[in-house]
Amino acid sequence: PRKIFSGIQPTGSMHLGNYLGAVRKWTELQKKRENITISIVDMHSITMPHNPPTLRDNIFTMAATLLACGIDPSHTTLFVQSSVMEHSELNWILNSLTTMPRLAQLPQFKEKSRTVRDVPLGLFVYPVLQAADIMLYKATHVPVGSDQLQHIQLAQHLARAFNARYGDMFPVCNAIIEENDGSRILSLREPSKKMSKSDQNPKGTINLSDSPEQIIEKIKKALTDFTSDISYNPGMRPGVSNLVNIHAQVTGQSIDTVVEEAKQLDTAQYKERVSEAVIEHLRPIREMINKHLNNRNELIYVLEMGSEKARKMAQTTMAEVRQRLGLGISG
Ligand code: TYM
Repeated sequence: PRKIFSGIQPTGSMHLGNYLGAVRKWTELQKKRENITISIVDMHSITMPHNPPTLRDNIFTMAATLLACGIDPSHTTLFVQSSVMEHSELNWILNSLTTMPRLAQLPQFKEKSRTVRDVPLGLFVYPVLQAADIMLYKATHVPVGSDQLQHIQLAQHLARAFNARYGDMFPVCNAIIEENDGSRILSLREPSKKMSKSDQNPKGTINLSDSPEQIIEKIKKALTDFTSDISYNPGMRPGVSNLVNIHAQVTGQSIDTVVEEAKQLDTAQYKERVSEAVIEHLRPIREMINKHLNNRNELIYVLEMGSEKARKMAQTTMAEVRQRLGLGISG
């Protein structure tokens, strides 16, 4: 049977890229009664300078948002990474199976390390912690957006390296990445880059908690080009194509249908149509986010139950890992 694991950083609130690229996929897998574990990876969020009270708030906001998107804790194990210590323990062990050149070549590290003067070691080993997340639950499948592919490949490499050195124990996981363009939603302001929480320009990112007015404003200001009709050509027209893609994703229509129906519209009119579709799609989610946020006790309960389940699995894995490595004196 498949074992599915994925994670999301509680940095800011969830944005449309997270939702279309990953979170919506998780709820689909959940509907198929798959075995899923989802982690709010707060330890990943401290690899860049952060504000502690904000992080704490963001953890709850992320939990509320995941529930609002349809993550159902009676089917899916939802927990906060730092509540299960075994993540850092396996991270340490995997550090010794990883080489520095391998980490230094990863695109996400190269990008982020450019933005700080002194690069934190945590930022460097970030993908090793991610591999530990996946391996602790012996996950076979990892649903993510396409920006995570290299990190999943490192996790595959580390599972193989562990198995080769200490005997077969970990499955080599598979990435589940949507074939269509949902797996990569671009920034509205800089459509050469992915939509991202750390975007310098907040107008490039649509958050699930944004009000209809904010969504209209952001889409109105989305960078397009000097051609006024609507077509889909990600290479030549990344801005417009990103809007078409978002539109298709939130309405569940094909790209062709969306383009065909926009034939009479110019870019300004089309932006209004996309705004409406996004607002419609997000309206019930936004209402549910607020409902869950107003019930912190429920969130605490859900996350504690999730941690307990996750911890059991993680402890079982770590007992075996320690024994295989000859660590300690038991087992
Ligand atoms: P994070 O928090 O950046 O993003 C969470 C998920 O959203 C996807 N995503 C996108 N998909 C499409 N278009 C975009 N613009 C976009 N931006 C983000 C990401 O691919 C991801 O699936 N390192 C991970 C978190 C993590 C993890 C793990 C994931 C930690 N441990 C173990 C899987 C398994 C990250 O930073 O995701």
